[in-house]
Amino acid sequence: MCGIIGITSTKQVSSTIINSLKKLEYRGYDSAGIATLYDGFINEVKCEGRVDSLEKNVSKINLLGNVGIGHVRWATHGKPNTVNAHPHSSETVSVVHNGIIENSTILKKFLVEKGYKFKSQTDTEVIVHLVTDYLKDNNLKDSILKMLKKLQGSFALGIIFKDQPDLIVGARRGSPLAVGYGPNENYLGSDSYALKSMTNKISYLDDGDFCIIKKDQVDFFDSKGNKINKKVLKLSSNEQNYEKGDYKHFMAKEIEEQPTTIKNCVNEYIDKINNEINILNFPWKKNEISSIKLIACGTAYHSCLIAKYWFEQLTLLDVEVDIASEFRYRRNRFKTDCLYIFVSQSGETADTYAALDLCNKHKMKTCSIVNVVESSIARDSKLVFPIHCGPEIGVASTKAFLGQMLVLYILCLKIGYLRKDLDKKKYNLKIKSLLSLSKLVSNSLSTENQIQSICNSFTKAKGAMFLGRGYSFPIALEGALKLKELAYIHAEGYPAGEMKHGPLALIEDGMPVVVIAPRDEYYKKTISNMQEVIARGAKVLLITNKSDEEIYSENIWEKIEIENTEEDLFPFLTTIPLQKLAYYSALKKGYDIDKPRNLAKSVTVE
Ligand code: M6R
Repeated sequence: MCGIIGITSTKQVSSTIINSLKKLEYRGYDSAGIATLYDGFINEVKCEGRVDSLEKNVSKINLLGNVGIGHVRWATHGKPNTVNAHPHSSETVSVVHNGIIENSTILKKFLVEKGYKFKSQTDTEVIVHLVTDYLKDNNLKDSILKMLKKLQGSFALGIIFKDQPDLIVGARRGSPLAVGYGPNENYLGSDSYALKSMTNKISYLDDGDFCIIKKDQVDFFDSKGNKINKKVLKLSSNEQNYEKGDYKHFMAKEIEEQPTTIKNCVNEYIDKINNEINILNFPWKKNEISSIKLIACGTAYHSCLIAKYWFEQLTLLDVEVDIASEFRYRRNRFKTDCLYIFVSQSGETADTYAALDLCNKHKMKTCSIVNVVESSIARDSKLVFPIHCGPEIGVASTKAFLGQMLVLYILCLKIGYLRKDLDKKKYNLKIKSLLSLSKLVSNSLSTENQIQSICNSFTKAKGAMFLGRGYSFPIALEGALKLKELAYIHAEGYPAGEMKHGPLALIEDGMPVVVIAPRDEYYKKTISNMQEVIARGAKVLLITNKSDEEIYSENIWEKIEIENTEEDLFPFLTTIPLQKLAYYSALKKGYDIDKPRNLAKSVTVE
């Protein structure tokens, strides 16, 4: 998704802006641009495609300036091309923008009537002309306030001004924005990750805030223009995790890291000596919660679907799962005895954040499970459970998915035990099994050769199905999502028992179908459903666990066996071959695995 960088310094800024834009590349984008102030003029360089091309263009003209803004754009209004790339500039100002201006059509009409000419199809250009217009009769601060009052929608902005050689304005409504502090220079960034390469001291803007950044001073204001103070936070430095190392892709690295990230997360939450779960800061009493609502998007939503099965099996709580983009517009019945749990790797997903914000406004009990602990969702939740995965750069979520499931499972055990739904013996046994999870995940990674030959059938197929029951059903959804987003193969995840109510009609000779059926309480039923698709010509890849028990089915095309463990933990293991299936299918098709087309790592628009 779009990313913003701004720097005001005593030094030349263009190469530092380009390097920071490279750090934002993982978010997914389709064009890039930069504007600097030099000698009383705004100079702009933009291009379609990658930051590498922008870098070449910038070095050709030797772009000078001590103040500048840069942007990577993920198209919303207007095609991904050079004209629509940011920054957008008039003679007076230059603007970079993340988010969407919902009333841009009305504003554009108003500005066109005033004589302003538009070059692009973007919603952003209205901001350029609004500020230009207000600056004719107002000082800088009032012009910004007036412009912000006119805008509807969600946005983060970076603005530079022809007549202000040392200054950047940042503004936030909805989309995240941070300020970084350096020696004789200060920064603006949509992402703490991009700022990390320059500083570890940052402040976050809250919704409605704006700021004026000079190289030696930063002033923050609220939406009414009152000066406000901001805390300066210190970021942790784990820069080495942002490198690919010897791996071809971040996704390959992140899949292989899973035994380590599971181990780290288990170590954070489990007290091995006392066989206990370390969640001590729970701010609510056990009788204050009688239901749970899990809210998320995409892969994070799938982790919530699995958690529903765990919560229902191990506690007596009512559990509902919702897609954030649906929840935020529904006529919800907010319940004070419900715990609202928001799950997000990035912690910046616009829909998930909006759902959290809605719950906070209704004074609900909110908690979040996130990877990025400095994120907006983490900051605005009453309680935060980090998944301790380290940075996930590949757009496809892999190690974060396992981390989300793990923290949800741990939370479920703890709540079940505190409520006495789960007895001490069972609780202790389940904690013990978690200690071996990292090893089990590690053993499930060695399916490389088998999967590489299997994926040929998927890359040639028109489409594929993924089937499962119980907590293997969300895993089926996750397997299908991964194959779609990485290998651009149409795939559907379905509850195995539901096939006969429609989708069975899709099955034809040679169609690849993945059946996820570890030997759990659903196993026999799933195997029967598998036979139904085999009978209609499907090529079945069965994912099950190692066992001496024979599988009563003929004509299974391929079988992948994961380690044997207790039922609750199967989802952690059955996921791994599906991640690899999508990875190798995309590799075979020659696609950009870490940055699949049209997608973004952090989805900051709704
Ligand atoms: O950062 P989040 O976990 O909130 O992101 C949610 C989804 O956008 C994300 O999981 C998406 O579905 C992944 N690209 C799937 O691999």
